[in-house]
Amino acid sequence: MKIKFLLSVSVLLALSFNALGETSAPEVGALAPELGALKLTGGGEISFRSDVQPIIHDYCLNCHIPGGKGYVKSGLDMSSYESLMKGTKFGAVVKPGDSETSTFTKLLTGTNRGLKMPAGLNASGTLDRQYILTLRKWVQQGAKNN
Ligand code: HEC
Repeated sequence: MKIKFLLSVSVLLALSFNALGETSAPEVGALAPELGALKLTGGGEISFRSDVQPIIHDYCLNCHIPGGKGYVKSGLDMSSYESLMKGTKFGAVVKPGDSETSTFTKLLTGTNRGLKMPAGLNASGTLDRQYILTLRKWVQQGAKNN
């Protein structure tokens, strides 16, 4: 029973990492803390306040707050759930239940009109896998204000 559970967790993990187009094995840090990993791969629910907002705070708010570069250019303010859901001056960036077409999550792994987020993060310009998976799963689960 336990083995079966562990197996399905590893399969899910392998699938999620492949989905990001990465072939290298996940580094140990990406799997810790254990609880976080289980929340991502198991049936756990992602919380906007405790899981999503800290990532936005650390990686997006710098520019996506009134006065910031991203806000000035796109109108996207991520300082609250309401403003995130409102999106840019052109419309929503989060489509609840659909992380594939939501610009909010799409721009983290691919580009759209040459854009990739978070802008100017590091050489590879890509957020940690665990964070990407967290944001995607939150959108997949309906982008709730929880
Ligand atoms: C260094 C500044 C900066 C950071 C950090 C940043 N952004 Fe942006 N973002 C921008 C700028 C500038 C634009 C406007 C780009 C344009 O329209 O040319 C933008 C636009 C966007 C858009 C709208 C794209 C569109 O289709 O109009 C989304 C969605 C977005 N950012 C998501 C994020 C997310 C999610 C994060 C954090 C993981 C993030 N950004 C972090 C600068 C930033």
